[in-house]
Amino acid sequence: MKFQKNVNLAKYTSFHVGGSAQYFGMVRNREDLREAFKFARRKNLKVLVLGGGSNTLLPDKKLARLVLKIAIRGLKFYRTAGRTFVYAGSGKNWDLVVAEAVKKNLGGIENLSLIPGTVGGAIYQNIGAYGAEMKNVLESVEVFDLETGKIKILSNKACQFAYRNSIFQSKAGRNLVILGAVLRLNRYIEPNLKYPDLASYFDGKKNVAIEEIRRAVIEIRKSKLIYPTKNIGTAGSFFKNPIVIKPRYSELKNKFPDIKASAIGSGHLKLSAGQLIEKAGWKGSRLANVGVSDKHALVLVSYRNAKAKEIVSLAKKIQASVKNKFGIKLKPEVRIIT
Ligand code: EPU
Repeated sequence: MKFQKNVNLAKYTSFHVGGSAQYFGMVRNREDLREAFKFARRKNLKVLVLGGGSNTLLPDKKLARLVLKIAIRGLKFYRTAGRTFVYAGSGKNWDLVVAEAVKKNLGGIENLSLIPGTVGGAIYQNIGAYGAEMKNVLESVEVFDLETGKIKILSNKACQFAYRNSIFQSKAGRNLVILGAVLRLNRYIEPNLKYPDLASYFDGKKNVAIEEIRRAVIEIRKSKLIYPTKNIGTAGSFFKNPIVIKPRYSELKNKFPDIKASAIGSGHLKLSAGQLIEKAGWKGSRLANVGVSDKHALVLVSYRNAKAKEIVSLAKKIQASVKNKFGIKLKPEVRIIT
């Protein structure tokens, strides 16, 4: 495996911003990772793992780290003890996994269609959309521990999944590099059409084929979200949807009668960060080389020549005005590297 010096990282993230890496390596298999582990030890370098780069904001400065781009592929569908699974390498493009599952008429991940990034990123982030979430299908994850150099398997429970969160984002999981995962799929399709956008798309229709659900999700996503192009960068939702307790929601509802929320159990509700940002007046705005999408206020965009510090500064301004108007502190959903 080759370790390159001073590699520009901007092309490895969907914001298209970022400085260079002191060292950079492309990890294609377990052996590459073992080598990288030894290299980092020898040079006393911290490691930064990149998947698809579709949810990461890298700093403008040079990173004194070994940056590893995970390109471990592999995809295998199998049945055992009457259940159906798919094993996917962590560097595999997530949407290709969904497309293959749908082609085989296997259900469980069709609502997670067209989410950018890799399998590893999808687990790290516990991706969720249209009423489905990674944590509901994940059976186990194979990881490489950068502390010990050993490979181990984590169960679903050990991953400590929560809304857009997992052990891999915490101190306890920081050293774990995801190699691959086993997902549980379903041969008996139970369409999950409760999310408002899907409910109105299918308008009460019951017997919906799995390809139709994938097609609907793709159509809805394309109409609402923007995808990176050569000239525009984005990482999808920039902030998490804030979770508040019922009394706090009632207070807000009194002041802002049209405020949207969905009940998530145990006396909590999830507000729509997109709506709060829109109401604070940011939708479609632009500050020099960065801005807020005019289709969806939760999506920040970078234009040509944008710098990471411009995105961070815009995010801080948005946070301040949402805090000022609603008393709510928005937390980034994007992984911000400093
Ligand atoms: N809304 C506005 N103004 C906006 C955008 C949204 O008022 O500019 C309102 C909508 O009208 C809707 C509500 O906010 O009533 C929710 O909007 P939407 O259905 O688009 O979902 P979201 O909560 O903004 C979340 C995820 C998305 C995921 C969608 C669909 C987070 C942080 N984001 O967005 O995930 O695709 O639900 O399930 O949870 C991502 O993580 O990058 C991402 C795109």
